[in-house]
Amino acid sequence: MIKKVGVLGAGQMGSGIAQVLAQKEIEVVLSDISDAQLAKARTGIQKNLGRQSEKGQLEKSAIPVILGRIRIAMAMAELADCDLAIEAVTEREELKLEIFRKLDGIVKQGAILASNTSSIPITRIAAVTGRQDRVIGMHFMNPVPVMKLVEVIRGLATSDETFKATANLVAKLDKEMAVSADYPGFIVNRILIPMINEAAYALFEGIASAEDIDKGMTLGTNQPMGPLTLADFIGLDTCLAIMNVLYEGFKDTKYRPCPLLVKLVEAGRLGRKCGQGFYSYDQHR
Ligand code: CAA
Repeated sequence: MIKKVGVLGAGQMGSGIAQVLAQKEIEVVLSDISDAQLAKARTGIQKNLGRQSEKGQLEKSAIPVILGRIRIAMAMAELADCDLAIEAVTEREELKLEIFRKLDGIVKQGAILASNTSSIPITRIAAVTGRQDRVIGMHFMNPVPVMKLVEVIRGLATSDETFKATANLVAKLDKEMAVSADYPGFIVNRILIPMINEAAYALFEGIASAEDIDKGMTLGTNQPMGPLTLADFIGLDTCLAIMNVLYEGFKDTKYRPCPLLVKLVEAGRLGRKCGQGFYSYDQHR
């Protein structure tokens, strides 16, 4: 039974994961190396809960109780007695491998180590630990409190017991699970990110304006956001990193990243989080 969960990385994914866990009465230790990031995560969670309460979806009195379940910690050592640790740090393989090596030495034996990776092989991550049977992929979608899906990825050695415990947790969070084998991009990003990349090509080749590309896909295929808006929302650095994983993983040129996407990332235009991507955003909105 999973009662206490450590979440590593307090970015938009980690803080969303911490929020949904705490809302389902699970004790959370939210850990990050940046004090500022932790403070930002706490404010963001508080704001989200406040919004839910204003809409009558949550009792106001529940907010401090939920926040009280989230302990903020800078030291990874504080995850020692967790039943599950979910890693949600930047999508960089060396960083994730280093974190899993450390987590394996810190988190109690028998606990599950999960990664929220959107594209790095779970089997490769598991291989740096001494508990390959207890490593699994739990890929949440952004924004975590809203999106119903968690992709669950079994590595080569993931045990049935680990899978069942993970499936039970997903159900407890009121989310749905889609199970994927451990191949590049899993299900969602294997399909979504090439679509975004193709939208970038359409813009790059002058086929249409960004606005018309997005209008085409929202009004023409009923997507809630057009692909370029969604790319800005996900982060162009993340989209490019995933595209590169597909390209390297399949060694197939159909996955080559669009030069415009590469250029925007090189220029630091990473999307909504930094005010500019395919579109410009007012930072104060
Ligand atoms: N955090 C928490 N809640 C949020 C939120 C956020 N960042 N943004 C919106 N919401 C909530 C709102 O409070 C609102 O809640 P209620 O329905 O309970 O009132 C609900 O979401 C709808 O929000 P809005 O009415 O403000 O806006 P919207 O109708 O335009 O919906 C959206 C916003 C839910 C983000 C919608 O545009 C959408 O579904 N977009 C696509 C998102 C998507 O595809 N995500 C997956 C990205 S891929 C991924 O995550 C995988 C990866 O590895 C890259």
